[in-house]
Amino acid sequence: MRTAIEHESELLAAARAVREHAHAPYSRFKVGAALLDEQGRIHAGCNVENAAYPQGTCAEAGAVAALVAAGGSRVMAAVVVGEGPRLVTPCGGCRQKLREFATEDATVVVADLNAVRARFTLGELLPSSFGPEHLA
Ligand code: THU
Repeated sequence: MRTAIEHESELLAAARAVREHAHAPYSRFKVGAALLDEQGRIHAGCNVENAAYPQGTCAEAGAVAALVAAGGSRVMAAVVVGEGPRLVTPCGGCRQKLREFATEDATVVVADLNAVRARFTLGELLPSSFGPEHLA
């Protein structure tokens, strides 16, 4: 397993706390995410579902929006918290959303309410990715 990132315990606490606010009446699957920005600040988000199902948003998307709204510009690390027998890794769309603000060596921690279950780099989750550099 990869080594723990700086601020990991604070990111875990933030992701677990915001997960409690998830609006997930349809899936009953609550997710929390916390991101570390380039200034050492933490931004959190939870999934927000909608009666018109496709309009729901993932926890990571909410956290990215919070980071940008606060004036952040880089995702240095991410923590995603969900419960269940399988690892709650970011969905494909959220991997790309993170990629917009992160390099491939950024750490993505997958955890539940009790423990860190896995650590990845974004490059492992989204290899050979397309990013902002392609349009520079
Ligand atoms: N979900 C997230 O918020 N993040 C993930 O990484 C995986 C899935 C949400 C979307 C939906 O509200 C619920 O979990 C079930 O898919």
